[in-house]
Amino acid sequence: MFDQQFWDSYYRERNLPWDMGEVSPPLKAYIDQLTDKQKKILIPGAGNGHEAEYLWQQGFHNIYVLDISPLPLKNLRERIPDMPDEQLIRGDFFRHKGKYDLILEQTFFCALHPSLRQRYAARMRELLSPGGKLCGLLFTFPLDINQDKPPFGGSPEEYDALFSPYFSEVRISLCYNSHPARKGNEVFFQLGKPVR
Ligand SMILES: C[S@@+](CC[C@H](N)C(=O)[O-])C[C@H]1O[C@@H](n2cnc3c(N)ncnc32)[C@H](O)[C@@H]1O
Repeated sequence: MFDQQFWDSYYRERNLPWDMGEVSPPLKAYIDQLTDKQKKILIPGAGNGHEAEYLWQQGFHNIYVLDISPLPLKNLRERIPDMPDEQLIRGDFFRHKGKYDLILEQTFFCALHPSLRQRYAARMRELLSPGGKLCGLLFTFPLDINQDKPPFGGSPEEYDALFSPYFSEVRISLCYNSHPARKGNEVFFQLGKPVR
């Protein structure tokens, strides 16, 4: 539905309304309290990868970025020349295989057609190691505002109902440290996979 060509055209035309040009403040705050720099971290639908760049600068080098479009990965490669090629993955999230301690996301869930939400939740659970976490940001404008193209929204209640069957810990809270452009329109979510 929203395939590689769809996303390539945004990057080719440099029409990136979601790209804030810097690490998202709530994700920066989350990253800043992490102590284990060996954590294996995935950023799916990473786009230009400002979070990955920030992580790299902070000494988190066991990080993987995944995007269906090669164009933002090329941009990121230029900004992090030392990052090994195998950590910049061109591929479809729904086919990606691996195990991660932590998955960070923003504006990826909302970029997928809502019909894929159950598959997103199941795939995320699959990609986490036991005890792993998925954290990030979700928009809170109603789902029916945008019907034909991303970003797709939702409510904290809808997100709770979606994720609860897949994760042992589901924490969703109004974001207090959003980027000014997103203030009041997003929640921070943390989902935990059971240790066993
Ligand atoms: C709205 S953009 C967000 C990019 C980035 N997270 C950010 O905040 O700047 C959505 C990204 O998801 C990527 N994407 C969409 N569907 C994908 C899929 N099935 N697998 C991997 N990446 C995908 C797109 O290429 C695009 O870079």
